[in-house]
Order: sequence, then structure tokens, then C-alpha cells
Amino acid sequence: MKMKMKMVLLSWMVVIAAMVVVDGHSPTGSNEGPREMKDWYRKLPHMKHKVTELHFYLHDIVSGSNPTNVPLVVTNSTSQSPTYFGLIAAIDDPLTEGPAPDSPIVGRAQGLFGSTSLDKIAYHMTFNFVFTSGKYNGSTLSVVGHNPFMDEYRELPIVGGSGVFRLARGTALLNTLTFNSTSGDAVVEYDVVVLHY
Ligand SMILES: *[C@@H]1O[C@H](CO)[C@@H](O)[C@H](O)[C@H]1NC(C)=O
Ligand SMILES: *[C@@H]1O[C@H](CO)[C@@H](O)[C@H](O)[C@H]1NC(C)=O
Ligand SMILES: *[C@@H]1O[C@H](CO)[C@@H](O)[C@H](O)[C@H]1NC(C)=O
Repeated sequence: MKMKMKMVLLSWMVVIAAMVVVDGHSPTGSNEGPREMKDWYRKLPHMKHKVTELHFYLHDIVSGSNPTNVPLVVTNSTSQSPTYFGLIAAIDDPLTEGPAPDSPIVGRAQGLFGSTSLDKIAYHMTFNFVFTSGKYNGSTLSVVGHNPFMDEYRELPIVGGSGVFRLARGTALLNTLTFNSTSGDAVVEYDVVVLHY
């Protein structure tokens, strides 16, 4: 009798575990193979959207011997341009929980931006948030957008993602916390909302 109870309990646990797997359905990051990836898409019609809010600070370091923002291309006219028109740069900026530079790192912003406006400082941004901690470790969000750097708030579209954020769409709202006009270094607050599965 006791044995039978145990068997019933065990089979229910298997059913519940299976339900968690089907409902949990979040890919775990970069270790998923092609079979799991295709299975995920087969289950997609039964999945519901989730809304996830993220908040972190980006440290853009131009000065010193370990810059995280380096110019790749400048034209002859860039140095004469009040908007740095024609500059293209690469970034690998740390993202931290709090505004302090030694706050725990949650990921990095890796990609490119170009100065593409003649009449005010505005960048075309194309980069990824590459998360490196907690449940988002290994997942990414892809950002493409217009960044008028001197505006109080800038809204950049999130156009996709990977891992936990596969098929994500959303918005990153940027607000510059500090900008040192002598060194060019900046700390930017990011409020991110993403829809994903
Ligand atoms: C850029 O500047 C260099 C050095 O002054 C000059 O030799 C070159 O012709 C310039 N190029 C253009 C496209 O104006
Ligand atoms: C993130 O994932 C990588 C690769 O799986 C692992 O080496 C690393 O320890 C993880 N980091 C954290 C903070 O969990
Ligand atoms: C701004 O940058 C300059 C040059 O690196 C530095 O001397 C100064 O202390 C910085 N100012 C602030 C408020 O951090």
C-alpha cells in the first residue's frame, strides 16, 4: 500500500516536472543545440508573452589606458565637425547594478556606433547587451536606434534577443547620469522593458 502511494506520488511528480519543462520553455543561453531550438519554435504557438523590466548603468570610458570606447574611423572633416560627424567607434562597456564603477557587473554593451547627424550630436547605435550574471547569463538583447546624446531621455528600440530573450522586442530608455566633458567619460542609466516568451 505504502509502495503504491509512493508510485502514485512519483508519477505525479513526473507529470508536474514535465509541465514545468513545457511551461518553463525558456532556452538556457548558448548551450542549446539545434534540436532544442527547433522544439522551442514548435511550442511557440502555446507560449505566452512575458514582460521583463531591467535596470542597470552603462560605463562608457573614453579616457585613460583602458578605454571601453575606441574610435575606428574618422574622416578629415570629423575633427572640424561640432557633431563629430563621420566618427565610427567600437564599444565594450560594462553594465553594472548600481551607478558606482565598482558596482557588480551584470553584462556588457558590445557593438558599434556612428556619429551620423550634421546638426546635433546624435549617434546611430547598433550593439548587444551581453548578460553575464544570474538568470540572464549567456542571453543577449540586440539594440538598434537613434541616440541624440544631449537629450535628457533617449529611446532605443530592442529588436531581438537570444537565450532567455529569444524573439524579444522592447525599449531601452537612456538617461545620462554623469558626463565629463573634459575626459568624455559617461555613466548612463538604462531602463529596459522587453516582451519575450
Ligand atoms: C585628408 O587629409 C590629408 C592630410 O592633410 C590629405 O593628404 C588628404 O588629401 C585629405 N583627404 C581628403 C579626402 O580630403
Ligand atoms: C555565466 O556562464 C558562464 C558560461 O556558462 C560561466 O562560466 C560563468 O561562471 C557564469 N557566471 C555567473 C556569474 O553565473
Ligand atoms: C573629468 O575628467 C578630467 C580629465 O580626465 C579629470 O581631471 C576630472 O577630475 C574629471 N572630473 C570629474 C568630476 O570626475
